Amino acid sequence: MSEIEQLEKLLADAVFQMASADEEGLRRIEIRLLGRKGEVNRILSTLPALASAERAALGAAANAVKQKLEAEILRRRAALGRELESELAEKEWIDATEPGRAPALGHAHPTSAAVAEIASIFERIGFRRARYVEAEWDHYAFEALNMPHDHPARDDWETFFVDAPPSKKFGKMVLTPHTSNAQIREMERRRPPIRMVSLSKTYRRQSDVTHSAMFHQFEGVVIDKGIALTHLKGVLDYFAKNYFGPDRVTRLRPHHFKFTEPSFEVDISCGLCGGTGRTAAGPCRVCKSGWLELGGAGMIHPNVLRAGKIDPSKWSGLAFGWGVERTMMMRGGQNIPDIRLMYMNDSRFLTQF
Ligand code: DAH
Repeated sequence: MSEIEQLEKLLADAVFQMASADEEGLRRIEIRLLGRKGEVNRILSTLPALASAERAALGAAANAVKQKLEAEILRRRAALGRELESELAEKEWIDATEPGRAPALGHAHPTSAAVAEIASIFERIGFRRARYVEAEWDHYAFEALNMPHDHPARDDWETFFVDAPPSKKFGKMVLTPHTSNAQIREMERRRPPIRMVSLSKTYRRQSDVTHSAMFHQFEGVVIDKGIALTHLKGVLDYFAKNYFGPDRVTRLRPHHFKFTEPSFEVDISCGLCGGTGRTAAGPCRVCKSGWLELGGAGMIHPNVLRAGKIDPSKWSGLAFGWGVERTMMMRGGQNIPDIRLMYMNDSRFLTQF
């Protein structure tokens, strides 16, 4: 095979190989043929030994092949670039008209939402919102609330005792089992007239489907001149209408608490049967009696006013208090099978609210 034939075969083979070469293969072909020690240079290096006519012919042929190779490599490289681009365009295709994906937004825990709503209902009639300590002295949780040290009523509260040194003045430290400690705390902090609603966590040593060891209560206190039972009834009805609905009313049932006199349990008329205990289908399945039990209330006992350094011959007060979770569930009509679900932080449960 003459040198010129060799050159032509070189070109033909290269064009054939380039057709299926990738970027890397193309570079190897380029070096093999056009590199400093490549095929074309090897043929050109034979030129000086040739007769002048042959030299001119081979020189021209080699240069022509070199140019064609260069052009072919450029063409193929450009084609590879376009292939890559269209591959990317295929893979990274975006539809600018597609609606965006909204980020998942959380919401307040149902208890936090209820706390905020209950607070705002009382704030509208001039109650100041407060929140008192949860790790509390026996004095504020019991003693100053007219519950003598060994009074059996204390057992009703299933109290947690904190493993901390007792105070000489205030006794043992407990996790407050009710928000009634706020009565004394508020009297110590402010002088009457007082209108306060305190909402906070409370703790009792009980855990079952209707009790969680940590729960929430709210406590309302009004102390002023001439506060009477009618004010208590008015405040409770106002709350019932604003939280449960305009057609709901409350009923006071005589009860006993050490810190109020007289004391009551507060019932609210049932939303299903309207307080009659009967529906068209027979006895009301929600309440049975027409009424649902909300919580405790009463007129603040003179001893409690005295403990708060308020003169009961000049001032009188009303107080009421009960659980936030219970109240919330009573309104929603949610059939929550276990109150402890509220505090298990399972988003499958919480996102339902
Ligand atoms: N502290 C009581 C409890 O947890 C509820 C209560 C009863 C609060 C009577 C009051 C009240 O303010 O006057 O069971």
